Amino acid sequence: MADTALMDKLVSLCKRRGFVFQSSEIYGGLGSVWDYGPLGVELKKNVKDRWWSAMVHARDDIEGLDAAILMHPRVWEASGHVSGFTDPLVDCRHCKNRFRADDPRIKGTPGQPDAQCPVCGSRGTLTEPRMFNLMFKTFMGPVEEQAAIVYLRPETAQGIYVNYLNVLQSSRQKIPFGIAQVGKAFRNEITPGNFIFRTREFEQMEMQFFVRPGTDAEWFERWREWRMGWHHDLGLTPQKLQWHQHGPDELAHYARAAFDIQYEFPFGWQEIEGIHNRGDFDLGRHQEYSGKKLEYFDQAANDRFLPFIVETSAGADRVTLTLLVDAYREETVEGETRVVLGLHPAVAPIKAGVFPLVKKDGMPELATELYRDLKRRFPAFYDDSGAIGRRYRRMDEAGTPFGITVDGETASERTVTVRHRDSMVQERVGLDRVAAYIEERIGRT
Ligand code: GAP
Repeated sequence: MADTALMDKLVSLCKRRGFVFQSSEIYGGLGSVWDYGPLGVELKKNVKDRWWSAMVHARDDIEGLDAAILMHPRVWEASGHVSGFTDPLVDCRHCKNRFRADDPRIKGTPGQPDAQCPVCGSRGTLTEPRMFNLMFKTFMGPVEEQAAIVYLRPETAQGIYVNYLNVLQSSRQKIPFGIAQVGKAFRNEITPGNFIFRTREFEQMEMQFFVRPGTDAEWFERWREWRMGWHHDLGLTPQKLQWHQHGPDELAHYARAAFDIQYEFPFGWQEIEGIHNRGDFDLGRHQEYSGKKLEYFDQAANDRFLPFIVETSAGADRVTLTLLVDAYREETVEGETRVVLGLHPAVAPIKAGVFPLVKKDGMPELATELYRDLKRRFPAFYDDSGAIGRRYRRMDEAGTPFGITVDGETASERTVTVRHRDSMVQERVGLDRVAAYIEERIGRT
């Protein structure tokens, strides 16, 4: 299957089945902003819950935080975003399209007569690059003036840095320890695209780990290993995950070392998470700009220091897209094409579909009773319309790992058929065992 064809099929499945819709679609859509439908919101929530459970609940040395999106504007001066969070932008004077100056499709040097617009093909119509800040601005209070400007945060990390002493003191943690946060971030990307891969509004799952200077390299390596392990545990194809180390010209202004976890999307190897050794850049800058001491006093060693930070930063939308891309497959079964989302049962939006074989002989009543029982424990779906094969196919497309059919034997034998999405194998399971049977196989999210 051609690469673009796979993405087109996925986008269409996401709309058809209610995973992802274009934002404000009835008004023609809003560029690179997407809404999550009933199945998408469950899938993304499972990703975030799994991350939270691995980072916060399973550990004693990480605390959670939910900081506000709007922050004091000085935060973004201290962080370097006001001066440095920019992309070089060029316009085509002829077709009015905009590009990043380093867009590989541009031939020649923007601003020079030889430069060619990648969309309309005109020569000499591309402007000189000018720097464009990616932060969204808005105004706080009723007056729209320079002094009232606030920004929609372009990363969640800064909310953690400015709260580091609050969390440290209230939780009575000791260094090394971390703070984790999941939340929205906004970037006015010049060239967003590839569905939910690069959007203007997205969610990050970020963790900042505060360590004693000198131990940062060791912690960095530990976090690299743990984070790659987490992606493997999502059931992603191992050969499609790799490391990319940032060279000196790629490193962000704050980073001493940086590795990306990349996934092989249909549009190439791309970053889904970054692990950064940020040194004392962030706390140093906030200390300088706020005038507040942010040092840590180590009682045991009787010394003070500004902690170094190891950051793990993943995109919830990107991980969701990764799961969808990795799970999508088409198979030919008895001469027909079957579309399956082979999602790991732990992240699948619906865990079980419940079907009465026919709408008579007491089957709907038994199936409804079973469905009610299952739905109290995990997301389940009841479907009694159409041929049983079609009902299975609908659940295959939704990524539902188990299909349970109540048939003629259910009343007398007290058993049902459990059909496995991937193998399509069917087995008989006792009616009173179904819930436990599925719970054992879906794991915890
Ligand atoms: N605090 C560090 C930081 O924000 P980043 O590499 O700019 O680092 C981290 O972003 C992660 O956030 C990326 O690996 C990606 O998963 C996600 N992300 C960044 N920009 C995004 C965008 N425009 N759309 C969707 N996800 C994005």
